Amino acid sequence: MSQDANGSTTAAALASDGTRNGDALANLLQEHRKFAPTPEFTANAVVGAAEYKEAAADRPAFWAKQARELLTWSQDFTQALDWSEPPFAKWFVGGEVNAAYNALDRHVENGLGDRVAIHFEGEPGDTRSYTYAQLTDEVKRCANAFESLGVAKGDRVAVYLPMIPEAVITLLACARIGAVHSVVFGGFSADALRSRIDDAEAKLVVTADGTYRRGKPSPLKAAVDQALTAPGHTVENVVVVKRNGQDVDWHEGRDQRWEDTVGAASGEHTAVGHDSEHPLFILYTSGTTGKPKGILHTTGGYLTQTAYTHKAVFDLHPETDVFWCTADVGWVTGHSYVAYAPLVNGATQVMYEGTPDSPHQGRWWEIVEKYKVSILYTAPTAIRTFMKWGKDIPAKYDLSSIRVLGSVGEPINPEAWMWYREVIGSNAGKNGEKKAHPAPIVDTWWQTETGAHMIAPLPGVTATKPGSAQVPLPGIAIDVVDEAGESVPDGHGGYLVVREPWPAMLRGIWGDPERFKETYWSRFEGMYFAGDGAKKDEDGDIWLLGRVDDVMNISGHRLSTTEIESALVSHPWVAEAAVVGASDETTGQAVVAFVILRESAPSGQDSGDDVVTTLRNHVGKEIGPIAKPKHILVVPELPKTRSGKIMRRLLKDVAEGREAGDATTLSDPTIMAQIAESLKK
Ligand code: WT7
Repeated sequence: MSQDANGSTTAAALASDGTRNGDALANLLQEHRKFAPTPEFTANAVVGAAEYKEAAADRPAFWAKQARELLTWSQDFTQALDWSEPPFAKWFVGGEVNAAYNALDRHVENGLGDRVAIHFEGEPGDTRSYTYAQLTDEVKRCANAFESLGVAKGDRVAVYLPMIPEAVITLLACARIGAVHSVVFGGFSADALRSRIDDAEAKLVVTADGTYRRGKPSPLKAAVDQALTAPGHTVENVVVVKRNGQDVDWHEGRDQRWEDTVGAASGEHTAVGHDSEHPLFILYTSGTTGKPKGILHTTGGYLTQTAYTHKAVFDLHPETDVFWCTADVGWVTGHSYVAYAPLVNGATQVMYEGTPDSPHQGRWWEIVEKYKVSILYTAPTAIRTFMKWGKDIPAKYDLSSIRVLGSVGEPINPEAWMWYREVIGSNAGKNGEKKAHPAPIVDTWWQTETGAHMIAPLPGVTATKPGSAQVPLPGIAIDVVDEAGESVPDGHGGYLVVREPWPAMLRGIWGDPERFKETYWSRFEGMYFAGDGAKKDEDGDIWLLGRVDDVMNISGHRLSTTEIESALVSHPWVAEAAVVGASDETTGQAVVAFVILRESAPSGQDSGDDVVTTLRNHVGKEIGPIAKPKHILVVPELPKTRSGKIMRRLLKDVAEGREAGDATTLSDPTIMAQIAESLKK
């Protein structure tokens, strides 16, 4: 990949050779397979081709129609979109809506109280199912409990929970009373949790004693305690769910047992409408700098687009479908397609706490068989892991209930796409029967910032192509532009942008409006810059090529190179560090770090492993286990330009086992040879 001296990818480079490495892109360009929907699927699909035309004719009117059809407003809105102060959008102006009422109460009022909302499957095998009536009751209690702890509309609530129903209950209870939730993924460290609590000035933290990971208890509350040891925080109470029963420290007065507070609270709670633009949640995500960004979402637009896309992209038939999104609520996918959209749409969903290989590698397929999952939504990294484990494992289960498959989080390579189709989507029973018509696959491109799907096939309309997200959804204006912001012709690559505001768009970065403008709206005049490279093929279909900035994508999780570099140099042994995302067969990318050690670091023959282990654990402590580098390479020098910028592309070459590319702009052109030499030792 060719980059300028500053290490940033140019559009020209993307056109010939994307952020996916050259071979992968060459593969993509030879990918001509297409799979059209069957006439039966199309005939029964909830959304048809006419939707594109209707949406294109009047975008705001199309979304206004969806907002009124999919949601129950306690006060109707007067204007679909106010874009008078770009990039700050207001959708469904003057409208009032309660997210929890839409996800819960109204279904009960409509006679669906006995429908199962959530089938929960714990890692150790315990199960719980909640009907809509039961879930409504729990959320009302939880809302009362939070209010009794002094949480009021607009207050922030930090959530550090495993994948258990209480996570969804907590989110909806916050939404119900207008409190703003800020979920921090359980894989983040105490330090990361604290910085997010501080940034959002959270009043309450909701956590659990712990969870299970591969059959073993895995603590959570301990990290909350640690995060709150240093004074100066805003947290008044910590509500603790009992999940794995492990011992926890208890801070009298501050800590509250979920069973006591929520369990004892009244089940009567009336939901009032909140302004359509009332903040619903903050979710932190990695940017190109060290400091994570608090992405802010509001209510009406977010609910409209998540509900619409959940219905259209997955062809949701809520009376009969069983939906399973495998994402954790710690990520945006778990917000939009676990906590909100499936419930707003009155669907039945499965929620699973644990890892795919616990207690055996067939666990997911056992769950699909058990609950007759009909729509499965997961990430390419999981699919590639299952490929590694072999097709014989899913073949032992009856997956015939599956009728739509979704993919999210990173580009899906055609091989993984075909495996997903042939092994999962074609399975018609555990005796090796095959379906005549495999389930369609929908590859969904979107981001924490976009709130909901933006590019995806419609399963009853689009002839799908392995590896491509293909088409902007109805009502979404996507383009691929060159360096100058000009739309590129079909057959060319460039930068992915959104040309018009969309309902679920982020409304800003918490506490930092300037950073919002600068990050997303300054690169191209009047367009949202997503940070992804993309290509339009000869049919005009869109292929995502990966990030063009210093953001890495590890198993569909976003991490910033700078953030991990800062963590490394905060260790006394490290003088300098450079981090790259190297392509990895299973996780898409893997974190590879190059470090220069200080004199104080242990040296000598046997010290290497110790240094690496210590530094990996240090990153785990600073950011969280997900950020631990897969490889740490100790080098004598880092390749830098004369202006002192690290040339990451050269390190990426090394990390991916290639001959390093053009090094002529280095301040010292012999450095790459020195690095190669040091790595041989
Ligand atoms: C980045 C956003 C969207 C929820 C999970 C990740 C990459 C996401 C795809 C896809 C190619 C994808 C992009 C994007 N990405 N989905 N279907 N094909 N790339 O959310 O953590 O905000 O990351 O994930 O690079 O910018 P996120």
